[in-house]
Amino acid sequence: MFGKKKKQDTNLLEIIDLEKDSEDLLPDTGQKKRKEKAEKEDEHEVLIEFSDVCKKYSQGENEFYALKNANLTINEGEMVVILGPSGAGKSTLLNLLGGMDSASSGHIWFGGEDLTTYSDNRLTRYRAENVGVVFQFYNLIPTLTAYENVALMKDIKEGTTDPVEALSAVGLKEHMHQFPSQMSGGEQQRTSIARAIAKNPKLLLCDEPTGALDTGTGKEVLKLLQSMSRDKGRTVVMVTHNSFFADIADTVIRVKNGGIENVVHNDAPKDASEVFW
Ligand SMILES: Nc1ncnc2c1ncn2[C@@H]1O[C@H](COP(=O)(O)OP(=O)(O)O)[C@@H](O)[C@H]1O
Ligand SMILES: [Mg+2]
Repeated sequence: MFGKKKKQDTNLLEIIDLEKDSEDLLPDTGQKKRKEKAEKEDEHEVLIEFSDVCKKYSQGENEFYALKNANLTINEGEMVVILGPSGAGKSTLLNLLGGMDSASSGHIWFGGEDLTTYSDNRLTRYRAENVGVVFQFYNLIPTLTAYENVALMKDIKEGTTDPVEALSAVGLKEHMHQFPSQMSGGEQQRTSIARAIAKNPKLLLCDEPTGALDTGTGKEVLKLLQSMSRDKGRTVVMVTHNSFFADIADTVIRVKNGGIENVVHNDAPKDASEVFW
């Protein structure tokens, strides 16, 4: 109940008032601690969990692990950077996260469901509903304008964002009727980000998204991705071999020789505008 303050003739407004007060009246043990813990856990809701995930390729008699015994957790709304040298297994990890590839063994939990048990059809639905992908070389359709490239998402999923809104969000409203060949690299990459976010995906996956861009344009793309996480609450996972990008991440996953070397949480990530490389 509401403690000593509760009166026989309390009306609804008073109850609400007392309920507010009662939080402060809770003794500084038990109940209050549990409440704080629950609130804290609420802030860090787990979106994805890898449990002993392996990706194995067989060539004749030889077995090769592109990823071996990967264990990790990604929280909702985080900006995650996957860092590692070429051939380390970064893209393999990203493709498994996005349901674009399937694991040889282990479990991949997404919102309480195990992706590794999904049929091909169910996995296609997972990708369509939950995943937006941004590639190093944009992968836009050359014969369609920026607007049309983004509008394509309407055929994949219901409840997509209006293409004009998505393109405005990346600062391209003025350029939306141009074809990819008529846009700079940065504009093409921003179009591909607009296309990915138009789906309203829970998970925005980016594989070396600044790899083909000059430093200035790359920074604009980084700022945009960071704001997707900070301001829009999307979970953004970015693969890169550039260790300077680690500074802007909430979580950095280092990959080496097909294994997770370490996972580091950063309490005070830098603003993307402060990163130099
Ligand atoms: N389809 C495949 N068949 C065989 N080996 C592969 C395949 N895809 C990736 N690999 C190998 O797995 C390793 C990790 O690849 P990848 O995840 O693309 O690395 P990264 O993105 O870190 O450069 C590499 O040695 C690569 O050659
Ligand atoms: Mg790669």
